[in-house]
Amino acid sequence: MQMKTLLSCLAAITAFTSASAAGKPQGQPFGKTGDGTPVEVYTLTNSKGIRLRAMTYGAIVLSLETPDRNGKSADIVLGFNTLAEYLKGTPYFGAVVGRYGNRIAQGKFTLGGKPFTLATNNEPGGMKCALHGGLKGFDKVVWQGEGLTKPGAQGVKFSYLSKDGEEGYPGNLSLSVTYWLSDDNDWRIEYTATTDKATPVNVTQHSYFNLKGEGNGDILGHELTFKAAKFTPVNVGLIPTGELRPVKGTPLDFTTAHAIGERVNSTDEQMKFGGGYDHNWVLDSQSGALALAATVYEPTTGRTMAVLTTEPGLQFYCGNFLDGKLTGKSGKPYQFRNGFCLETQHYPDSPNQPSFPTTILQPGQTLKSTTVYRFTAK
Ligand code: GLA
Repeated sequence: MQMKTLLSCLAAITAFTSASAAGKPQGQPFGKTGDGTPVEVYTLTNSKGIRLRAMTYGAIVLSLETPDRNGKSADIVLGFNTLAEYLKGTPYFGAVVGRYGNRIAQGKFTLGGKPFTLATNNEPGGMKCALHGGLKGFDKVVWQGEGLTKPGAQGVKFSYLSKDGEEGYPGNLSLSVTYWLSDDNDWRIEYTATTDKATPVNVTQHSYFNLKGEGNGDILGHELTFKAAKFTPVNVGLIPTGELRPVKGTPLDFTTAHAIGERVNSTDEQMKFGGGYDHNWVLDSQSGALALAATVYEPTTGRTMAVLTTEPGLQFYCGNFLDGKLTGKSGKPYQFRNGFCLETQHYPDSPNQPSFPTTILQPGQTLKSTTVYRFTAK
């Protein structure tokens, strides 16, 4: 073989075996928000046929294509094809939520002896609360995007400065979230934040998964295992009571594998409050080191997903508020329980629960948090 041919063969092999060989992802135009701010989309690919697209609006993951056990690819996250549909409003499809993801009772908390009031935008069981950062949370702002590359992975870093007083929260919060897609089939999420005033922070990723492929019906057959022996029971307003309750003997016990549908309609009081699963599990690992939190197996396609995190909690929500009114990417309506979320995070309402791990970020501290969604098929 001639030297030139050999070199081009080697180059082709490298391109196929390394995500980073494809270079830094470039932002591509994806439309404009109502005030004319341009939004860009970044596409990350790996050598195993996984492709993840994310946009600067809400740091939203638009699509995530992974192969099934036969190598057939499908898009396994719920969402829309156009920015206009996201701007009309979504139940946080694919977004980063914050400044405080999940609920704060009455939208009120006290910090350093000072009361703070947030907008209340949610009212389960007739009890008002602040949900997912407020009226215009991190899911509805335009982040600054930057394509990244390193050996074996492509990435995109989204940065956002949340100003002092934004949505009622104290302090200028400088935040970044980086998505890496590696040749090991990891979608790795790294959050970093600093502040100039003490503030609660709880950011998480709100992708809705359906490992059969979005638009392919309900998620009730997915089998879940959680590394969690306890959960935080809630009241009718989905606010934790403060108790850490053992899951043993309840429909929330996923210490061994159970299908979502097996006990989802149980008459257990907690399940009634949530309208199904909509609870925070207390992860066994509370060390702050990256540890396995959950595994998911979808029997018809063989797709599996492992969730690893440095966070102490995991909100499992099984799409109880989806009602068929939104039509997704493949033109099919998203019906009741057609997607589920596994949101790694701190416990809901932590600013009002002194016994929960703190969510208060102090000036001079750097918040660092990592979550990995790992994809295989068997
Ligand atoms: C979270 C909450 C749910 C619901 C969804 C968005 O997962 O726990 O109760 O509000 O977000 O619809």
